[in-house]
Amino acid sequence: MQATAKAHTNIALIKYWGKRHESLILPTNNSLSITLDGFYTMTSVEYSQDLAADQFYLNDEQITGVAYERVTTFLDLVRQLSGKQIYATVKSTNKVPTAAGFASSASGFAALAAAAAQALQLDLTKEQLSRLTRQGSGSACRSIYGGFVEWEKGSYEDGSDSYAVQIASEDHWDVRVAAAVVTATEKDVSSREGMKRTVDTSVFYDGWLTSIAADLKDIKAGIAAKDFEKVGQITEANCLKMHATTLGAIPPFTYWNDATMAVMQTVQQLRKSKIPAYFTIDAGPNVKVLYLPENETTVLEALKTCPSVTDVIVSRVGKGITYK
Ligand code: DP6
Repeated sequence: MQATAKAHTNIALIKYWGKRHESLILPTNNSLSITLDGFYTMTSVEYSQDLAADQFYLNDEQITGVAYERVTTFLDLVRQLSGKQIYATVKSTNKVPTAAGFASSASGFAALAAAAAQALQLDLTKEQLSRLTRQGSGSACRSIYGGFVEWEKGSYEDGSDSYAVQIASEDHWDVRVAAAVVTATEKDVSSREGMKRTVDTSVFYDGWLTSIAADLKDIKAGIAAKDFEKVGQITEANCLKMHATTLGAIPPFTYWNDATMAVMQTVQQLRKSKIPAYFTIDAGPNVKVLYLPENETTVLEALKTCPSVTDVIVSRVGKGITYK
């Protein structure tokens, strides 16, 4: 009754931004991501009849409070599925700078779901595993797969048709993503809180929603044709639209700081000198930059010499869940 799973984070090119159901984690729009090989969570889950409650260790430290509650509430779902009332010791190692806009919840819940289901021999299909994982953290349902992945929002009230599917494997196209780290401090407004405030109050939210279908159709065509400029342009514009919704919320907020803006300008400058590079930003100040392998030296040089950047971490397109 023990299993270990490894999951990578993913970066959304078309963002998930808003829920139609809070506790089931059902999104208002489809999203599309690349799984990244540079960041991952490795999690082992061991069930035991001797435990009276779940235990959770992250990077060798026992976790209590809100982070523990999210894990044990998620394990309740796995218990429900298995019909077994049995508790577990969860040990995770995170190779992700937590809560600074790097989606540690994505690799975290994907690895937890996979290890917990495997330890109880639930024998889930990828689709079932993605649907289960979604209920831990929305973006995590995409990390079940490698390569290019779409999360279909679904329309059923019970969420049974809301899960991710792979649209192209990790071998389809060698694009690179450089994560430019500008700060590693905890963020003020979590993605969960930020998207809720935006859905509830932003005057720009409807505009965001009506633009998604066209972005998705175009980016999927771009990925299939390996048209880097098309994919990059849609990615950057979709990111800017998502972040624009936060400025129309009440109270307004932004995830950007001056360093974020400096990196965005560096990327625009690269394009002026004919290097195709495009940025995207999640719910935090760090910037992820998409580029092609032949431009790696130039792109990394530009990012590393940007005064506000403290670290640059390169990812290739990564694999889905693996088991040890
Ligand atoms: C901006 O998946 O962290 O990164 O479902 O509430 O756990 P919950 O939110 P989460 O939100 C991710 C938002 C985003 C965009 C994306 O990854 O698509």
